[in-house]
Amino acid sequence: MTGVSLIFFITSLIVSVYASCVLETPDGTIDVSLAASTKGFFHKQPSTTFEEYFFNICKKLSNFPDIEKSSVKNAFAYDMQTYYGGLRILRPIAPTSADEVKIALADPKNTKGGVVLTHSTVDVTGADDNEKYTLVVNLTCDENENDEPSEDAIEVEKVQTESLNYKITVTTKTRAACPRKGGSHGGPLGQYGIGGLIVTLLLVCVVLYFIIGALLLKFKFQKTGSDIIPQKEFWMDLPVLVKDGCLFIFEGVMVLVNKMRGKSAVYNNV
Ligand SMILES: *[C@@H]1O[C@H](CO)[C@@H](O)[C@H](O)[C@H]1NC(C)=O
Repeated sequence: MTGVSLIFFITSLIVSVYASCVLETPDGTIDVSLAASTKGFFHKQPSTTFEEYFFNICKKLSNFPDIEKSSVKNAFAYDMQTYYGGLRILRPIAPTSADEVKIALADPKNTKGGVVLTHSTVDVTGADDNEKYTLVVNLTCDENENDEPSEDAIEVEKVQTESLNYKITVTTKTRAACPRKGGSHGGPLGQYGIGGLIVTLLLVCVVLYFIIGALLLKFKFQKTGSDIIPQKEFWMDLPVLVKDGCLFIFEGVMVLVNKMRGKSAVYNNV
C-alpha cells in the first residue's frame, strides 16, 4: 500500500511541477518554465514608491528574506506595500499549487503570438477586508530575447476590477513563449527529460522489488521480522562490498600512478 501511494506521490510531484507550463501547438512545444528565474523576479513600480512585487514564472519563490517571514510560503507571487512610518505588508497574491496555473495562447489562431498564464484567484487578508487577487502573466514570443527575461523588461499593472478585486498583469518578452520543434530540453518530456524518466522508472522498480519481495517472503515463505527483506544477506553485505570495490579501484589507480611515475623517472634519467 505504501509503495503504491509512493509511486502516486512521485508521479504527481513530477506532473505538478511542470504540467501547466507546457503547451503543445502544431508548430512545436511552448515550455514557459524555461523563463523561470532561479531566485525569482523583483519589480518596483516606477509610478509609486510604496508598491513592490516578488514573483516567478511557472516556479514558486521562497528565497527572498521577507518571504521567509511570511505565513504563506511557496506562492508564485507576493505584493509588498510600504506605508508611511515604514510599516511593510507582504501579501501572497497568487496560489501555491501549479495545478492552479493555466496556460493558453494569447491569440488562439497564432502560435507565435505568445502565451498568457492565468493563476487562480486568491483571497488575501487586506487592511480592511478580504481582497481578491488574480495574477496574469502575459508572455510575448520574441526569438531575439533570452528565455529568462531581464528584470528591466518586465512591466506590472495593477487594476481594480471590483471593490476588493484586483488583477495584476505581468508583461514581458521571452523566447520561451515561442513554439520549439523538438525543443532544447528533449521535446514532449520538457525539462524533466529522458533522464528524469529513467530515474523515476528505476525508483519505481526498486520500490516494487522490495514490496513484492517482502510480500512473497512473508506470505509464501512465512518469514517474519527483518527476514522479509528480499536478498537480505546481499543488502547487509552491500556496505562492505562497496568499501572493497572502492579499495580495489583505489589500489588499481595507485599501481597505475606508480607505473607512470616509474616511466617518467626513466625518462628523466635519459
Ligand atoms: C499582452 O501584452 C501585449 C504586448 O504588450 C499586448 O498587446 C496584449 O494586449 C497583452 N495581452 C493581455 C491578455 O494582457
